[in-house]
Amino acid sequence: MFLDRHSILFVETFNIKDNRLLFDEYTNCTYNKGMDSLKNLSLHQVKILADHLAKKINDKAILIGLVGPLGAGKTTFVKKFAKNFGIKKISSPTFVISHEYKMRKNKFFHLDFYRLKDESELITVGFPEMLNGKNIILIEWVNKFPNVAKLCDLLINFKVNENNKRDIDIEIR
Ligand SMILES: Nc1ncnc2c1ncn2[C@@H]1O[C@H](COP(=O)(O)OP(=O)(O)OP(=O)(O)O)[C@@H](O)[C@H]1O
Ligand SMILES: [Mg+2]
Repeated sequence: MFLDRHSILFVETFNIKDNRLLFDEYTNCTYNKGMDSLKNLSLHQVKILADHLAKKINDKAILIGLVGPLGAGKTTFVKKFAKNFGIKKISSPTFVISHEYKMRKNKFFHLDFYRLKDESELITVGFPEMLNGKNIILIEWVNKFPNVAKLCDLLINFKVNENNKRDIDIEIR
């Protein structure tokens, strides 16, 4: 999987090799602490990253927080990520807060905290029930509620650069 053309680009340009080792261990449930920064990613490269992470995670339970300004690429990332789980129609959950997709063994949740004002609203959207140790959960604007950000297995932070490129920090808990 890592020897395709794009992955080689990643290994050479973004030192994803270290990430790969980290994620291999991560998905075997050895928890690692770490942070990796990927610089100046094109839209295409952001999508490769989403594929890469989704394949590593497979269908294991995970809570991923996505952080970054409006238009940073959070939904774009989730769309590409979700395709790996057979989910093709991802739309932004900004207005409805949560989208739920059934998978074979578990569920895939795509949440967006942007419009939430108070942490107590998480109960209304059924967030506590989602955390059952089985589901794959991706949350845009997770930084609005630090108590939830603290729970995330991965925090992916997007920064918008010139020329539509993105710097992406991945924090592994
Ligand atoms: N390098 C890049 N990485 C990610 N997105 C890019 C990149 N270059 C251009 N784009 C474009 O930027 C837009 C990002 O929009 P997206 O809806 O994913 O942002 P968002 O972070 O979810 O915003 P919001 O906070 O409003 O939900 C898309 O139209 C995408 O095609
Ligand atoms: Mg979005």
